[in-house]
Amino acid sequence: MSRKNQTLGEFIIENQKEFQYTTGELSRLINSIRLAAKVVSHEVRKAGLVDIIGETGETNIQGETQQKLDILANDMFIKTLTNREIVCGIASEENDEFIPIEDRNGKNKYVVLIDPLDGSSNIDVNVSVGTIFSIYRRVTPPGTPVQQEDFLQPGNQQVAAGYIIYGTSTMLVYTTGYGVNGFTLNPAIGTFYMSHPDMKIPENGNIYSVNEGNYVHFPQGVKDYIKYCQKEEGDRPYTSRYIGSLVSDIHRNILKGGIYIYPTSSIKAQGKLRLLYECNPMAFIVEQAGGSASDGHKRILDIEPSELHERCAFFCGSKNMMETAEDFMKSPLAK
Ligand code: AHG
Ligand code: MN
Ligand code: MN
Repeated sequence: MSRKNQTLGEFIIENQKEFQYTTGELSRLINSIRLAAKVVSHEVRKAGLVDIIGETGETNIQGETQQKLDILANDMFIKTLTNREIVCGIASEENDEFIPIEDRNGKNKYVVLIDPLDGSSNIDVNVSVGTIFSIYRRVTPPGTPVQQEDFLQPGNQQVAAGYIIYGTSTMLVYTTGYGVNGFTLNPAIGTFYMSHPDMKIPENGNIYSVNEGNYVHFPQGVKDYIKYCQKEEGDRPYTSRYIGSLVSDIHRNILKGGIYIYPTSSIKAQGKLRLLYECNPMAFIVEQAGGSASDGHKRILDIEPSELHERCAFFCGSKNMMETAEDFMKSPLAK
């Protein structure tokens, strides 16, 4: 059940029974993400001030130089997810290797994969950034050290995924496989309230989001689809909107209807976005909201990962727009 204005805390407790494993750990895990989100939100809101301190070469009161926000966000999520007897390992964009967490009592059943600050180049220009997270149950035995294979699971095994957007307001949007709900932070009292119950992406949309600066390097199928979006016919031309912050671009497209494309190209043969902590969680959320996500050909959630920081092409959005884009990719000249 979801009620508008219900707090995230209440929602987590009320919906605990919907999880496949009902011992409450996943609820506690979402709770710790909620906590880290509030702290990171607070830090992001100080970004302009922190930058000023940084530029004058000043240090903070403890004599430490100001940390870059993506490192700060990373540290905050890692700290919050550790020592709670829930998580046995964390993989982050900011760490080359996964971070094992000792599972003394065999209770730490989950791994978390995270992009702690997505769109971080936008911080300096006061544009929305986000956090993306993906959660799996470990596949190796409880009580043993976490292994690479616990992280290299296909997206269809995710038990939860979500993002936090630090925008005009801070929102936490997540799914546990039973639809998608969005909560907005009331910063005055530090509480997330349900603001977007049961989010659904429109089946059709009129927004296409792609970095067209790379146009000449795109596969022919993507070039043709972009020309299709621009053509004056029926409900087209579509509107082009590209923030350059995946969380923000996808969030807008979920609310308004649209398609996001980051394809492979002659300069980025594998694409740019990371399968495990960018594409998979976003694909899970968008599918749960009624949309779809693929690499242009294959469902993102069915890709078998082979590396922690693996990249892939990403097409994601409104169902009917995705079908048309995938049709363009099927054409014999598409590559
Ligand atoms: P991050 O800040 O986590 O490295 O991610 C940046 C990503 C993503 O947020 C965005 O959609 C994409 O990079 C933009 O890439 P281009 O500048 O190449 O378009
Ligand atoms: Mn990112
Ligand atoms: Mn990042």
